[in-house]
Amino acid sequence: DAGKGGYEHYMLKEIHEQPTALRQTLRGRIEHVTGDISLEDFPEGTFDGIRRVQFVACGTSYHAGLAGSHFIESRGVPSQTFLASEYAVSTPPVDDETLVIGVTQSGETADTLSALRRANASGARTLALTNVIGSTAARECDDALFIRAGPEIGVAATKTFSSQVASVSLLGERIVRDVVGHRSEDIEAVLSAFADLPDHVQQILDFTKAHRIAKRYHDSDAYFFIGRGTAFPVALEGALKFKEISYEHAEGFAAGELKHGPLALVTPTTPVFAVFDGQNDEKTLSNVKEVEARGAPVIAVTSDANETVSQHVDDVLTIPDTHPDVAGVLANVQLQLLSYHAAALLDRPIDKPRNLAKSVTVE
Ligand code: G6P
Repeated sequence: DAGKGGYEHYMLKEIHEQPTALRQTLRGRIEHVTGDISLEDFPEGTFDGIRRVQFVACGTSYHAGLAGSHFIESRGVPSQTFLASEYAVSTPPVDDETLVIGVTQSGETADTLSALRRANASGARTLALTNVIGSTAARECDDALFIRAGPEIGVAATKTFSSQVASVSLLGERIVRDVVGHRSEDIEAVLSAFADLPDHVQQILDFTKAHRIAKRYHDSDAYFFIGRGTAFPVALEGALKFKEISYEHAEGFAAGELKHGPLALVTPTTPVFAVFDGQNDEKTLSNVKEVEARGAPVIAVTSDANETVSQHVDDVLTIPDTHPDVAGVLANVQLQLLSYHAAALLDRPIDKPRNLAKSVTVE
């Protein structure tokens, strides 16, 4: 209990450690006024000759990988994210112009190691993005970038996701500069948003309504999470976290996919959590209307500046207004708290969910 620092569970402690973890992740790495980035071991020119970037990862780290490939691809460099277990059995063509980044908190996940070994054997350059210095992934890859989130004990990943997303964005911008030849146009706004991120997370921790929302909906039949763009990985991660620790049925979808199947499951007893990315809100709102027409309660996760969304939904979990590439981290903190409180109300063993392990070392 001493290790829990007064919190009932490690998970809640680690959720609350995110402002500190993010400060550690970002410390010395960004100069938001000038737009400069300094990543140890990755000076300018490190990625000259790279043409494409692939991410391989599992679980929560896969969702951080999706955020990474979105960041990189939207800035002009081809990038994709693969589930490591699939990459290992069906490896896409790679060559020495391909950078393969393994996103793995532990650095020991068997599927991710296996995918990285396949990439390496095919001639790709490999990089481990990990929390653990000296881990197998860090040792075996050509390069490593440490997310510096501090130890995470709870099986459900929380602070490491936030630090992974911050890290893939900084690394992504470094790669983009080398490959495209110039810095991203909006990079000062992105870095300024990252500089504000620890305080913004603290604001959510101080003022969240997640407990109230969990109380209102925790006896529902199922829970759906939808999002577009940068909110899509957040929808997937929101659902993963919810099912991992509450044992309730939860699914995350790209908002546009709802009408291609999941809509059949939507009823008045299946709340829908709609995560807004600040860029595609009108389209996501039209999906919200589709589920509302089937009687489902809708809880939006959106910027506190977005009044249009608030008028159309039953409840809102607000996040401070920020850059769309950073908003996902904030939305995810609200959903971590929602999952935590729902699981606590259902009296689940939050830090050690049944059948799950912190690090999965078998394929
Ligand atoms: C396990 C954990 C997840 C984690 C995944 C990948 O399934 O329960 O929380 O996201 O492994 O772990 P990694 O260490 O590779 O990030």
